[in-house]
This record gives sequence, C-alpha cells and structure tokens, in this order.
Amino acid sequence: MNKASTEVVVTGIKPTGSPHLGNYLGMIRPALDLASRRQGYVFVADGHAMTTVEDPGELAGRTVQVAATLLALGLDPARTVLYRQSDVAPVFELAWLLACSTPKGLLNRAHAYKAAQDANRDADRPADEGVSAGLFTYPVLMAADIVAMDGTLVPVGRDQAQHLEITRDVVAAFNRSFGPTFHPPLAHIDPLVETVPGTDGRKMSKSYGNVIPIFAEPQDVARRVRSIVTDSRPPEEPKSPEACTVFSLYRQLADPAEAAAMADRYRTGGVGYGEAKDRLIAALETRFGPARRTYRALMEDPAPLHRILADGAARARERAAPVLARARRARGLLP
Ligand code: TRP
Repeated sequence: MNKASTEVVVTGIKPTGSPHLGNYLGMIRPALDLASRRQGYVFVADGHAMTTVEDPGELAGRTVQVAATLLALGLDPARTVLYRQSDVAPVFELAWLLACSTPKGLLNRAHAYKAAQDANRDADRPADEGVSAGLFTYPVLMAADIVAMDGTLVPVGRDQAQHLEITRDVVAAFNRSFGPTFHPPLAHIDPLVETVPGTDGRKMSKSYGNVIPIFAEPQDVARRVRSIVTDSRPPEEPKSPEACTVFSLYRQLADPAEAAAMADRYRTGGVGYGEAKDRLIAALETRFGPARRTYRALMEDPAPLHRILADGAARARERAAPVLARARRARGLLP
C-alpha cells in the first residue's frame, strides 16, 4: 500500500428523493466544496438505499434525481468523478472481504440498525422485525465504498459521524489481520455547518414535514417560507436574530455582509418577519433558480446525465481494480 501523498475525497449521497435545504446546507454543499478542491469521487449510494427502498421504479427514479441534483448544483464531472455505486461491482466484492473480518458486535451499535430496532421496540414489535442483513451490514458497505477509491477523507453530515467511526474500525480490523491493505478513512465534518431548522423550528427533516424543497416551483418555495413559525413581535421591536428560523436560514445563504447588516437591523428593530421572509425567498431564488432550470433540463432529457454516469463508472472501476486485487491477495484468493 502506498501512502497517499494527497487527500482523496470520497463520499456517497443516498438517493432520498427531491432534495431540501437541509440536505443541501448540511451535506451536499460542504461535500461538493471539498471534493472540488481535491481529487474527488462522489457517488449515488443506490446500494445503501436498497436497505429501505423496495419499489424498483422508486429506486431508479431517485437515483437519477440525485445525480441530476448534484450536477445542477455545480458538480463538475471533469474534475470530480460522479458514478452510481451499483455500477462498480468491486465495491460489493470488497464489502464481503471486509465483512469477513468485521466483528459482528461492532455492527450491533450502528445508527441505522439501532434506529430500526428502536422503532420496533416503540411499536411493541420484535426488535429485529423488518431488519434485513443488508441494513445490519450498512457500515461495511460504506467502508467498501471508501477503500475502493483509496479514499482518505470523507465529507459527511453530522448524522453519519458514527457510521464513519465504524468504517474506520472495519478497515483497521482487516489491516490488523491481513497486513496493511487499505488506507484508514477519516471523516470530514465541516465545523461551520450549522443545524438547519425547518419551518416549525425543529431540525429540517422529511419525517417532520417541515422542509423547504430547493427545486420546487418558486411559488411553492415562497409558500413554505411564509409558513415558517415566528413570534408576534411587530417590525419596530428589537429581535434576536439567533432565535429566528428565518434569519438562520437567510444567514446560511446570503452574502456575509448582507447577513451581518440584517442581523443589526434585527437587534435595533425595524425589520419585520414579513420582510425577512421576502429576503429569504429572494436569496433562495438567487441560489437555486439557475440550478432548478438545469435540474429540470436534465430530468427532461437525461441522456447527458447517463453518459456522465457511465463515464464516471468506468473511471471508478478502473480505480477500484488494483485495490480489489490487493485485498484478494491479502486474503489468499487466487488471481
Ligand atoms: N450512509 C450515507 C448517508 O446515509 C451515504 C453513504 C453511503 C456514504 N456510503 C458512503 C457516505 C461512504 C460517505 C462514505 O448519507
């Protein structure tokens, strides 16, 4: 194994349907930023989505949506390799090689698995009901994703920090038993990324029904913004910008000087929530208007997108081939 002289960024985005502002600010933007500045591999984690999505049409549709989202938001396929996880068979072979040296106990505490168990317990069902072996080994497949590209740095949202710790342990266990074969991956959680509140003030999440979609019609986006819950202070009364959902979303999109000016006006009084919402709506349109048009065009005619994915898959397979050969050799599988 050669020590990587430069960081190789790898990350997966699970196809969850149409993206919302929380996905964008919490995960997509920091990941694309980091990947664009290094050698980067970004893939649509359709294999991971299989652990929860059963409908074949839905899985295929979401996969295209996410790829179109990433391209529309500025992923440059000439710089960053974009591919579908399921197009890179060595990933799944590596997952098995890794699984065979992963202590089962390590996976018992993984988030995705524990969340499924907790939901069962809350509903008085047997703890493992509906839990597939695939869901249980979710972090092993993540480890395979990363090592397949010889990745060193993995941008993820805070919710994936624990899975990344497990992937490190999975990789370390293999290296310990069979010699140094894989680079141990390091999670990169952007310290500047803040929690993204939804329209009701709780964390923005599809399961709370409080999301602001980024590629919806402008009037739908505006309607969602106007539904953001605020207190009833009149415009002239001083307000705390930190305590306001409208401002905290605005700050994450607007240019820093404009955001600072707005914060001052909150504190001294003179800005009403109606105006703040208008500003947020305008900032959303500035950021996502052009991307929405690109997204729509890609969804209407996905041929260029499929070409990009096919090219990315070829490059990813090429990258994975020597890694797989190394791992097979380490395990004594004949070439
Ligand atoms: N599990 C991640 C999520 O739910 C997606 C993912 C799959 C991933 N494989 C990965 C992230 C490898 C980083 C590295 O968001």
